[in-house]
Amino acid sequence: KSKLQTKAIGRHIVYKKEVTSTQDIAHQLVQEGAEEGTIVIADKQTKGKGRLGRPWHSMEEKGLWFSIILRPDIPPQVAPQLTLLTAVAVQEGLERATDLPVEIKWPNDILLRGKKIAGILTEMHSELDRIQAIVVGIGLNVNQQKTDFPEELSAVATSLSMEANGKVFQRSDVIVSVLEKYEHWYYKYLDQGFFPIKKRWEQLATTIGKEITAKTMRKEVQGIAEGITDEGVLLIRKKDGTLESVYSADID
Ligand code: BTN
Repeated sequence: KSKLQTKAIGRHIVYKKEVTSTQDIAHQLVQEGAEEGTIVIADKQTKGKGRLGRPWHSMEEKGLWFSIILRPDIPPQVAPQLTLLTAVAVQEGLERATDLPVEIKWPNDILLRGKKIAGILTEMHSELDRIQAIVVGIGLNVNQQKTDFPEELSAVATSLSMEANGKVFQRSDVIVSVLEKYEHWYYKYLDQGFFPIKKRWEQLATTIGKEITAKTMRKEVQGIAEGITDEGVLLIRKKDGTLESVYSADID
């Protein structure tokens, strides 16, 4: 049932019991010329990386920690599109595998009942204004229980199992579902560009149409989230009527 049927995404799978971070291994493989669609997956990460230099708690074998190597022929400025594409694939893949109400929050948070269920970290290799490779890291909390999370995360993080009354999910079913959706959206993207992804993302993202506060490194922007641009930038309509673009921020 959980057999991977994808053609390109997951064509090569590198599986490790324990790594510092699957991103580290994937970056190394990129240097060695790894093919598009190569996936690095580990049971445990001793130094899982989150966005903005934060740690990502992934010492448990109960989650899914993996990185996908992509080699799209796109300019570096549009690389954030891949993060949004990933969010769509993860949302659809998780919802299909579990029937739970999974939400997307800009730019790359995947939430379940308001708590973080998955994280996405997109890192790129570029040279002379062309992308050589993009390494998309995905962390999915699957079978952890409350006590598996460190104290400081218990209010903000959750797992599929915790949200499904303790049901234990087969991790292979979950990753297969996500990778199938990934392949679908990635090839649609290469074929038709960002537009279909942007439309789907705007449907799925709970951020859109709501009053939000975006905290960037330098300031806070308050207003209604109107949508995203082709670069994956969030557009916020402020009280004074002006539109502000936010590239990277935490959203409340
Ligand atoms: C975030 O929300 O801050 C992003 C978290 C990304 C975590 C995944 S787990 C697999 C891959 N390897 C890492 O070290 N990080 C990503």
